[in-house]
Amino acid sequence: MSNEKRSNFSGKIGFVLAAAGSAVGLGNIWRFPYLAAKYGGGIFLLVYIVLAITFGFALMAAEIAIGRKTGLSAIGAFKKLDKRFSFIGYLSALVPMIILPYYSVIGGWVTKYMMMFLSGNINKAATDGFFDAFISQPIEPVIWFLIYIGLTALVVVFGVEKGVEKVSRVMMPVLVVLSVLIAVYGLFMPGAIDGAMYYLMPDFTKFSVKTVLAAMGQLFYSMSLAMGIMITYGSYMKKDVKLESSVKQIELFDTGIAFVAGLMIIPGVYAFSGGTPEALGKGPGLMFVTLPKVFNGMVFGNFVGTAFFIMVLFAALTSSISLMETVVSIVCDKLKIERKVSCLIVFLSAVIIGLPSCLGYGIWQDVKIIGMQFLDFFDFISNSVMMPVVALLISVFVGYIIKPDNIIDEVETEGAVFKKKKLFVIVIKYIAPICIILILISSILDAFNIFTI
Ligand code: PHE
Repeated sequence: MSNEKRSNFSGKIGFVLAAAGSAVGLGNIWRFPYLAAKYGGGIFLLVYIVLAITFGFALMAAEIAIGRKTGLSAIGAFKKLDKRFSFIGYLSALVPMIILPYYSVIGGWVTKYMMMFLSGNINKAATDGFFDAFISQPIEPVIWFLIYIGLTALVVVFGVEKGVEKVSRVMMPVLVVLSVLIAVYGLFMPGAIDGAMYYLMPDFTKFSVKTVLAAMGQLFYSMSLAMGIMITYGSYMKKDVKLESSVKQIELFDTGIAFVAGLMIIPGVYAFSGGTPEALGKGPGLMFVTLPKVFNGMVFGNFVGTAFFIMVLFAALTSSISLMETVVSIVCDKLKIERKVSCLIVFLSAVIIGLPSCLGYGIWQDVKIIGMQFLDFFDFISNSVMMPVVALLISVFVGYIIKPDNIIDEVETEGAVFKKKKLFVIVIKYIAPICIILILISSILDAFNIFTI
């Protein structure tokens, strides 16, 4: 994105809403609940919240401040601050390139479910085994994947992001209200209370390094951190907008939606599958298996389900648009080509990279990389390896190279007070680097089955 075109968000609310549009998406509604279910319920939720108010806060403040200070997106920003570290910008730019393809595969699943509900096929969607049969087909999931990524690309090519954002601004509050209603309704199903207890009460015996790693990767993913996106958003932020409170609002919003999504899905797992370890460890399919059953038992379930999936689709689109937009602008800048050509290149590459993830549940299910299916592998590489590495580099860069004072000054421009200044410095200089290094080592050893904690 070139500097001359850099327009500003109008005021704080504009900034918070735009950043929340990127942050709130499938990460909150699809990914958070299945990880929480898998990694111990309440203990995962607790670790996540602690990380959000420490790591998440410090990192988001740092990224937005870097963007606003330099007025540039990631690659240019690191270069401007210190030439030797421009590689951090490049590394962070790789992350959205890995996420976009498989994100669109899930987006395709959402589109399929929306269409099913729209055409009144709720019973079918709620049948046991329906989801697994769907994703293991060779053609259908690919078609939905193409439709979803095509939709994302159309918005980016025609530059109608603003329009989508406007619609989603109306949809998001409705999504929140609807999710709360669905969650409350769900709690009345037999067995659901046990699920709610599992989700809300931390069981410390379930704590492990894996819980922390999963929660940390999820935090970066959900808040669009450690991939340069918040730096770009920061570069559009006006100097008189209060940075610290904006960060707090985005975090609160993002975590709130994830929390409600968990409350909507995990009790359902208990109600329909008895909360067995297999049911809880279902992984990426959890939302698609559980929610149709919840809707199926509900009065006006078809209507509520349709509305729900339409809104999830919008939340997902605003996120994948921001992913694609980031990649497109990098390709534009680096290859010095037209935007439309750059869109086409990104679209085609994403389709090629996304195909294995799409087929990995069916005809390619026997192909595994370090024991994982393609989608899980791409998810692992981006969330458990690259994002922690980028986050580590950013914290070392801010803590020891440009020094925290630089960021603090930016947060305190125009007389604003940085209330959590001490917390910020301690997290960025000490806690983040040490924890990330420990976690990274253990996760890599674990992935290669060298040493399991
Ligand atoms: N934060 C988004 C979500 O929760 C995903 C995303 C990641 C979007 C990175 C943009 C960039 O779904």
